Amino acid sequence: MPLQISSLEEYQSVYQQSIREPEAFWAAQAETFYWQKKWDKVLEWDFKKPDVKWFSGGKLNITENCLDRHLESKGDQTAIIWEPNDPNETVKKYTFRELHAAVCKAANALKVLGIEKGDRVCFYMPMVPELAIGVLACARIGAVHSVVFAGFSANALADRIKDATCKMVICSDFNKRGQKVIPVKSVVDEAIALGCSSVETVLVHKNTGGDIVWDEKIDQWWHNIVDIQTPQCPAEPMDAEDMLFILYTSGSTGKPKGVVHTCGGYMVYTTFSFKNVFQYKEGDVYWCTADIGWITGHSYIVYGPLSAGATTIMFEGVPTFPDAGRFWQICDKHKVNQFYTAPTAIRALMAKGDEFVDAYDLSSLKVIGSVGEPINEEAWHWYNEKVGKKRCPIVDTWWQTETGGIMITPLPNITDTKPCYAAYPMPGIQPVLLDSDGNEITENEAEGLLCVRFPWPSMLRTTYGDHERCKNTYFAAFENHYFTGDGARRDADGRYRIIGRVDDVINVSGHRMGTAEVENAINEHSNVVESAVVGYPHAIKGQGIYAYVIVNETVSDETVFRTEVCEVVRREIGAIAKPDKIQLVSGLPKTRSGKIMRRILRKIAANDTENLGDVSTLLNPDIVESVIEGRLKE
Ligand code: WT7
Repeated sequence: MPLQISSLEEYQSVYQQSIREPEAFWAAQAETFYWQKKWDKVLEWDFKKPDVKWFSGGKLNITENCLDRHLESKGDQTAIIWEPNDPNETVKKYTFRELHAAVCKAANALKVLGIEKGDRVCFYMPMVPELAIGVLACARIGAVHSVVFAGFSANALADRIKDATCKMVICSDFNKRGQKVIPVKSVVDEAIALGCSSVETVLVHKNTGGDIVWDEKIDQWWHNIVDIQTPQCPAEPMDAEDMLFILYTSGSTGKPKGVVHTCGGYMVYTTFSFKNVFQYKEGDVYWCTADIGWITGHSYIVYGPLSAGATTIMFEGVPTFPDAGRFWQICDKHKVNQFYTAPTAIRALMAKGDEFVDAYDLSSLKVIGSVGEPINEEAWHWYNEKVGKKRCPIVDTWWQTETGGIMITPLPNITDTKPCYAAYPMPGIQPVLLDSDGNEITENEAEGLLCVRFPWPSMLRTTYGDHERCKNTYFAAFENHYFTGDGARRDADGRYRIIGRVDDVINVSGHRMGTAEVENAINEHSNVVESAVVGYPHAIKGQGIYAYVIVNETVSDETVFRTEVCEVVRREIGAIAKPDKIQLVSGLPKTRSGKIMRRILRKIAANDTENLGDVSTLLNPDIVESVIEGRLKE
């Protein structure tokens, strides 16, 4: 197992060493894993291209590290606890031995169905054990998984399937969420009908049962094929730099891009960070409430915890079913030791009242974590007092789909915590603040653009099928730096506070959304001429979506129109991208060169119109007043 830091002095000295001798540091961590063949070179890198290779020449299979290597010492220990949507249904538990067998069977099934090393397999599934099993089965045989969050629409799913030319889609029949049963397989059918010609097989896991349309030519039942396989499957030897998975994420322009992570470095870093950030100890029960459709689920439900030999919980349901005490009921029921969730969930539950949390015994908790968006001070204190009872350090973890693992965070009971601060860099992570000209801001108590100046093992390697885009998005803004897209502040003691995105990306309930993407969806409405989308402060979601829309023909019923626009967005992207507010405007403030002045629109949406700055240089300064007048309050 990689090093587990246990004191402040150790953190400080390890951090210094990791910066002074990064190769020696990461080689020492990597040594603790099971490699089929050792690497030739720890690190080669060039951010200009970018070209980053960790542990090249090394051969490994991440599933041997997540499963096989634990069999002897903890084969009978629980690897996954699956908690169903309905608390009255039966919990499922998989020991490492059982999980190993299940993964091998699924891997053999994939092979029978023609999946080979390097093929892409798309997952569109709810939080059922078969999702984790399927993902690991891909890794076992060297297939590349691309998990698409099951809340995305058929259009969004089709875009992702096509971009990665997936050969197979693995899905469920239906998804249970609270009292709702949501169709899943029919969304895949719809996506395939949109021309996903690369898909040869749709492998369907029967979750609820119920009527689905069946196409004998491509549909296969999971149970028919997986259940009859043998529970052994050799682990494909993977080069450290072979692709492990693709995960799509939104940017400020264009369609979502497929962030590519590779096997060796990702394994080392997610395991190392998991052990340290959560201070996981033998026998602990760890729970991350994320969905495996996002990077948090990949790194900190599946790979990091399993590789570290931890017991990890997978929860099928939602925080408010059957009531707002569900999270705490689960913590109590399974005696959870480390709990990791998102600020939006904390704020939503905080709003429901303290009685839901007070009803349960949370004395097993040792560390509580937050991820995905800035946690505001009020939510931080509530989490600290009501959930952590002031005895559990809050780890406010800053990272991104692209970083693969947690980059900036307190280490519990090692470094201090401070509300709103993600605090200190992890060993091996070299964050810097730059000004807009690319000069480094070296002093403390300063604000700047958050960049990273040295590679770390789990960083993205490319964006699938478009390396130029990777370069332009992350490595072109500032020479020799990875640019995160976030602004940050560093306090007098060197702690980082993440302020938020500085590009046209908004963060709604911890979900990343490109404003351009939402605009493109809105523009699909036949009566929409042009639109502009900005984020605005939202009490629960962190940011809400505010859309300014210019229509062609006068709208007679605005309520109907808004419903239609939301429906178009739901169809194009998914319900998570539906605007919270839609304001009809006669024009949008633009610069003389025709660029929409989002800065002004953001201020209007936030009701911060006192200080709009100079608008006289706009192409259409008069429009500002009328947009302000029409502002939607509630
Ligand atoms: C963006 C990345 C990484 C897991 C989930 C989100 C924001 C993430 C924090 C935090 C403030 C945060 C940033 C970042 N973000 N964690 N602790 N404090 N902001 O992954 O969808 O790739 O989004 O989320 O703006 O750039 P993602």
